Amino acid sequence: MQMEKNNYILVTGGAGYIGSHTVVALIENGFTPVIVDDFRNAQRSVIQRLEELTETNLLVNDFSIHDKNQLIQLFNKYPFSGVIHFAADKAVGESVENPLKYFNNNLGGLISLLEVMIQFDNQKLVFSSSCTVYGTPDLVPVTEDTPTKMPESPYGFTKLMNEQMIHQVQTAHPELNVAVLRYFNPIGAHLSGWIGEEPQGTPNNLLPYITQTAVGKRDFLTVHGNDYNTPDGSCVRDYIHVVDVAEAHVAALNFLNKRKVGIETFNLGTGKGTSVLEMIRFFDEISGMNLPFKVGSRRSGDVPEIYANTDKANEVLGWTAKRTVKDAIRDAWNYEQQAKEIQ
Ligand code: UFG
Repeated sequence: MQMEKNNYILVTGGAGYIGSHTVVALIENGFTPVIVDDFRNAQRSVIQRLEELTETNLLVNDFSIHDKNQLIQLFNKYPFSGVIHFAADKAVGESVENPLKYFNNNLGGLISLLEVMIQFDNQKLVFSSSCTVYGTPDLVPVTEDTPTKMPESPYGFTKLMNEQMIHQVQTAHPELNVAVLRYFNPIGAHLSGWIGEEPQGTPNNLLPYITQTAVGKRDFLTVHGNDYNTPDGSCVRDYIHVVDVAEAHVAALNFLNKRKVGIETFNLGTGKGTSVLEMIRFFDEISGMNLPFKVGSRRSGDVPEIYANTDKANEVLGWTAKRTVKDAIRDAWNYEQQAKEIQ
């Protein structure tokens, strides 16, 4: 692998769900992650677990990326060879109740980061986007050329705005070299069981709700609708193992190191759709349980069916999702069962 002389990578939101798994993947591939996280949405114990897992002393900076002075000090200290930007709020429901929080954090955070990157002529950025930018697509699977649509939630709107901001800023500063990664539905946990998804309060997302129901934290799962025009009537998503997502960030950095691309956008999915009812069936198979669930009404804003065409990431990044949805369910279940002991 071709690597620059210095290999410090700034990872904003490095203590979060996808960020922490990416920190592991970076270390495994010879990079030195420098984490910036204000821990408003991450447990501090994640750092200790990451250090044990990777047998490394991590470089951790506890501040918000809104604090430009601290960011500037950090860029003065480390000659970053790339930036991976995860730090953002991501709760769809909360964003509907408090859109200004999302505009402030997700738009303001990116502005602050880009300003400092440009000031330091730091050119390589890997940006966390979401399949939410496709809205309800007319056709599945979606390719990167599928037109974006106005997302249903303020959260989704910030991701679409973030992408557009990056395009306009890159036009003004052509030296910027950006990989935009549109995640489908990241799930699962590290194989070790030491890091995983840690939702605050009641989970909104399907798999954490399933595993919390299975350990007795929730009484039953509600399936949000079984009357969609899909094979079994429940919604279909492209669930992708979080470690595959993490590895895609390493592939994206290597790609930016090799080529000046301007901006390239990639879908990160498996290319395969799985329904909510299938997810429950897979969970039962893996856990040997009978998950209690009830069918409820549709959840507002849900897209009936979306999954990725991943050809571009496969061909251009040389990355492909290696793990199956069942691997991800098994690892999330393993993590949920260990979580009580390690927090
Ligand atoms: N679901 C249920 N019951 C639940 C939770 C979810 O039936 O208790 C269903 C949903 O209705 C949906 C599917 O499971 O059909 C997946 O829902 P998630 O909430 O796990 O994920 P979404 O596809 O809704 O994705 C959302 C946002 C994305 C964001 C992602 C991760 O739309 O933009 O959450 O935060 F990236």
